[in-house]
Amino acid sequence: MEPPGYDGAGARYEKVRSAHQDIQKLLVEFLAPNSRASHVDLACGTCAETGGIAQDFDRFVGVDSALGMLRTARRACQGLFIAASLEGGIPLASESFDSVSMIAGVHHIANIEGLVDEIYRVLKHAGKALIITNSLDQIRGRSVYRYFPGTLEYNLRRFAKAQSLPSRLQDRGFVAVATDIIAREKVLFDRARLSRLRSGVLDSAFWCLSDAAWKEGLVRVEDALTNGERIEHCRDRLAICGIKP
Ligand SMILES: C[S@@+](CC[C@H](N)C(=O)[O-])C[C@H]1O[C@@H](n2cnc3c(N)ncnc32)[C@H](O)[C@@H]1O
Repeated sequence: MEPPGYDGAGARYEKVRSAHQDIQKLLVEFLAPNSRASHVDLACGTCAETGGIAQDFDRFVGVDSALGMLRTARRACQGLFIAASLEGGIPLASESFDSVSMIAGVHHIANIEGLVDEIYRVLKHAGKALIITNSLDQIRGRSVYRYFPGTLEYNLRRFAKAQSLPSRLQDRGFVAVATDIIAREKVLFDRARLSRLRSGVLDSAFWCLSDAAWKEGLVRVEDALTNGERIEHCRDRLAICGIKP
């Protein structure tokens, strides 16, 4: 069976990917949503994190390549939603937004340099960029990968690109570039949580597995749970922000 990809994940994603209070706090404090400001959320998915502030902006735009995710976002929040791959740039006019966010999306993008250039281009003077991703240590802290050989290495490869973001933002001309660890939290895996892993709602790293490797991993986890092992999943995130001078 083929893993569903994000296109098929919208409704399921919405059910389990709830807004995290630390991310919400950062969105409000840093982006300062208000009725004179415009905001674009890149790889917005279902707007699980940004949906709550969308109506506070004069203009809120979400861009994502998965129609299924966007369908859910359109139902859940106010805004204009554009289906497009960010590999081809951001399909919006230059200097047209007061702020840009990208949450849990940057590891999907191959051309990080191009992405940073594009974020800079669409921002107005004094525009704010906020990217939320993971450090490699945070990825290593997800102990569930241990039971599915290959998933840790796959994610370390995908997230390696994101580690250069602070220096790329600086090189591009952003000022006040800062990083912070947020959403510090560990959740414990149980059988219900496990069954959602491969549907993409918890971690797309599991899509790299063959059906056989996925089933073998499930058996390992079942055995571990039966033996009373604690399987922790760190939900902490790395926030990177900068301002276009
Ligand atoms: C883990 S989800 C994050 C969604 C949302 N930002 C959130 O915090 O819940 C990753 C999102 O990136 C989107 N995505 C992946 N590759 C993309 C691309 N090349 N261009 C635009 N969006 C992409 C997926 O469709 C998916 O909605």
